[in-house]
Amino acid sequence: MSKITSSTLRTFKQEGKKFTALTAYDASFAGAFDSEGVEVLLVGDSMGMVLQGHSDTLPVTVDDIAYHTRCVRRGIERALLIADMPFMSYATPEQTMINATTLMQAGANMVKVEGGKWLLESVSMLTERGIPVCAHLGLTPQSVHVFGGFKVQGRDADNAQRILDEAIALEAAGAQLLVVECIPAPLAKAITEALSIPVIGIGAGKDTDGQILVMHDVLGISSGYIPRFSKNYLKQTGEIRAAVRAYIDEVAQGIFPGDEHTFN
Ligand code: KIV
Ligand code: NA
Repeated sequence: MSKITSSTLRTFKQEGKKFTALTAYDASFAGAFDSEGVEVLLVGDSMGMVLQGHSDTLPVTVDDIAYHTRCVRRGIERALLIADMPFMSYATPEQTMINATTLMQAGANMVKVEGGKWLLESVSMLTERGIPVCAHLGLTPQSVHVFGGFKVQGRDADNAQRILDEAIALEAAGAQLLVVECIPAPLAKAITEALSIPVIGIGAGKDTDGQILVMHDVLGISSGYIPRFSKNYLKQTGEIRAAVRAYIDEVAQGIFPGDEHTFN
């Protein structure tokens, strides 16, 4: 099977084929997800919570992401591999270039950054120099202390309009993918329709081009708070590969996310 690239995902969007993404942090899980057909794997800074046991993603370093990106890279053949730029690793254009280079050389195909207007210059700098960018809007967890908690974003009309405007500007700056997290489903739908790049949702309803979940939530082994938008597929299947296939099937058929996973 040929490798998934950003142009494959663009074709899926044009054809209306829903695709699936998962986080992965090591070669074994990543290999299983890849061979079952997950199209996009993210070495997420969610590792701060699910691997390292912190209460947010802020302690994660570039070295942490680079190490896990090297691990995942060795395990996969087909999926597009995105690496998260962690907290404060892209605060200035110079830091952005150095740290994104480290993650690409660790094996990433693309880097992901959280934020809107202030990132436009970095997104075009990276893209022009050969580093594809996935943008991330809505509930951007690196800003949890600014938001005052893990809260749904874009609920009022002004904020919704700002997020939509930022999505359009990020695409114009060169972003090749966009993740939207914890926003009302109608806003996610409007963003998905406004952009020609694929939009991947988490807690953003069923109308985005793709869905992403944290693997620990899919496999029901997250401790403490379990987000309402996630789904434990291991419970209904009893086997890891079958759980991944069930997730892929439910996304493809528009069954996941259901109303119970969605904010309106
Ligand atoms: O770090 C992560 O796992 C993420 C996804 C939830 C999109 O950024
Ligand atoms: Na992240």
